[in-house]
Amino acid sequence: MKPQDDVCLCFHVPLVKVRTYLARENPPVASLISECLGAGTGCGWCVPYLKELHNQHQSGQLPTIEGSAADYAEGRLKFNKSGTRDKPESQ
Ligand code: FES
Repeated sequence: MKPQDDVCLCFHVPLVKVRTYLARENPPVASLISECLGAGTGCGWCVPYLKELHNQHQSGQLPTIEGSAADYAEGRLKFNKSGTRDKPESQ
């Protein structure tokens, strides 16, 4: 996923905004990323990804999501239709 690609598709929050928020605010818990333009407060698809971005930030890594934005968006469509994920919740 590229920095300008949306992590939270509901509220159009790109990866670069989440990275900037994490670097600036250093939130102690992932749920505070919701303060970044409401990320994660819609359908819930991006919540495990936001948690992973938070974990990466906490461990000193550049927060990144592997794979393409198209695959990510397709996963969300499936999630919204079925309520299930292809990937584990812990991601
Ligand atoms: S994609 Fe983030 S809440 Fe729906």
